[in-house]
Amino acid sequence: MGYKAQFRVWRGADDAGELVDYVVEVNEGEVVLDIIHRLQATQAPDLAVRWNCKAGKCGSCSAEINGMPRLLCMTRMSTFAEDEVITVTPMRTFPVIRDLVTDVSFNYTKAREVQSFTPPADLKPGEYRMQQVDVERSQEFRKCIECFLCQNTCHVIRDHEENKEAFSGPRFLMRVAELEMHPLDTADRRDVAQDEHGLGMCNITKCCTEVCPEHIKITDNALIPMKERVAGRRYDPVVWLGNKLFKRNKA
Ligand code: SF4
Ligand code: SF4
Ligand code: FES
Repeated sequence: MGYKAQFRVWRGADDAGELVDYVVEVNEGEVVLDIIHRLQATQAPDLAVRWNCKAGKCGSCSAEINGMPRLLCMTRMSTFAEDEVITVTPMRTFPVIRDLVTDVSFNYTKAREVQSFTPPADLKPGEYRMQQVDVERSQEFRKCIECFLCQNTCHVIRDHEENKEAFSGPRFLMRVAELEMHPLDTADRRDVAQDEHGLGMCNITKCCTEVCPEHIKITDNALIPMKERVAGRRYDPVVWLGNKLFKRNKA
């Protein structure tokens, strides 16, 4: 059965915006994105919202619903009481372009800073063979739809613009970890993870994992193993001695 829901939606940009109240019709089985579309169709034709698939797969419709980072298209209206005021705001970590649309180019900058997959130079097409267990390990990370909800949630950058240069965020630390675990990748990414992508700033709170719509265990399966690899390299006395001797021999 249909009902009227009370919506409070952010309108405007970062410096000149406000929450505006609307009452919108809701039908059975609808998601928040349906209501935003109805709002556009009936009351606010200039409301800006980014979306593409409406199936939780393109990662475009990320926003905050009652303060929780979520996909608009995967949040069922049945999650809320009929008399609840539903507040929809843009992701907080990125600059607002207009209404619910944010400028997520920070993430593309960070993506470009990750050294790409570096297989052995003499490996020919058809020779890329790896164990199933290694395939499965990276498969989890490959489910990422780049919604950037984890990036939006991470407290290291959420209210700390000053940390953005030094910290790549969970999505890209996960990418570094994925490549570091790849048996055919020849690059040693441990120092880079720590020094250039800011792995040390992550204090494994798992907030990124909690909001991932693909249920990727970002912290447990990518960030913590990566921290262990870095610690092994830097603080293992045998590794330390080996590095010293190797460097001395090379000199
Ligand atoms: S676990 Fe690390 S990357 Fe994830 S939200 Fe916490 S500090 Fe950020
Ligand atoms: S890891 Fe999860 S939350 Fe982060 S961008 Fe990918 S799908 Fe979104
Ligand atoms: S519209 Fe594609 S994930 Fe929501």
